[in-house]
Amino acid sequence: MKIAILGGTGPEGQGLGMRWAAAGHEVWIGSRQAERGAQVAGELNALLPASAPRVRGAGNLEVTEAAEVVVMSVPYQAQRPTLETVAPALRGKLLISVVVPLQPPKVSHVWVPPAGSAAQEAQQQLGDSVPVVAAFQNVSAVLLKELDHVVECDVLICGDDRAGKEVAARLSRDAGLRGIDAGPLQNAVVVEGLTAMLIGINKRAKIKHAGIRITGLPDDY
Ligand SMILES: NC(=O)c1ccc[n+]([C@@H]2O[C@H](COP(=O)([O-])OP(=O)(O)OC[C@H]3O[C@@H](n4cnc5c(N)ncnc54)[C@H](OP(=O)(O)O)[C@@H]3O)[C@@H](O)[C@H]2O)c1
Repeated sequence: MKIAILGGTGPEGQGLGMRWAAAGHEVWIGSRQAERGAQVAGELNALLPASAPRVRGAGNLEVTEAAEVVVMSVPYQAQRPTLETVAPALRGKLLISVVVPLQPPKVSHVWVPPAGSAAQEAQQQLGDSVPVVAAFQNVSAVLLKELDHVVECDVLICGDDRAGKEVAARLSRDAGLRGIDAGPLQNAVVVEGLTAMLIGINKRAKIKHAGIRITGLPDDY
């Protein structure tokens, strides 16, 4: 797949991008500054096996134009302006939101945006021509770049578009994670809120990568 990552210069986008490139996808790192996108792409290529397709980087609009699937990995406060920049190029494409609506400085307190979740807010902004799926919110960036590290976290996938959720499940598998259909987009409030809780658990336990696992599912789920 051709995957663009808006704000892919940050730790979460870099980690996911590296794993998807290692799995054979064509990854584009997006940034507000094209040079920064290209620079980070170069840094990721230096870490990837030579057999992986080369990661490329450019401005957020340019990477959106190049992609089939667009992953939004920016801070919540940057979500609306970032989507405004890329909206014309997003039409007809899938948007996967990784965004967690945190309200600094209380980032371990659950905060619910007026639309119900950051993902629903994105869906309202973009309209029906762009299906929005929420996924990867609970996956810590810390160990993603270590490709052989098994990340102990499931990916809860929320959305109203069945095909979009299947794409997110495939991208979960390709990142070495288990993707689980967690229901409609309105359920994203729970998934996004869980991350604030995980941040608090990390702080109290003095660790960096608490995750979540759904128990009771068959081994081949
Ligand atoms: N870090 C984690 O472990 C983790 C885990 C799960 C979910 N998340 C969520 O995933 C998203 C990305 O996380 P992250 O840690 O990678 O975030 P980040 O480093 O704070 O930001 C990612 C990128 O977003 C762009 N950005 C930052 N501020 C912006 C602004 N005011 N306006 C427009 N663009 C801006 C920057 O790219 P340019 O400067 O290159 O444009 C930055 O490199 C967040 O919503 C976060 O809550 C993070």
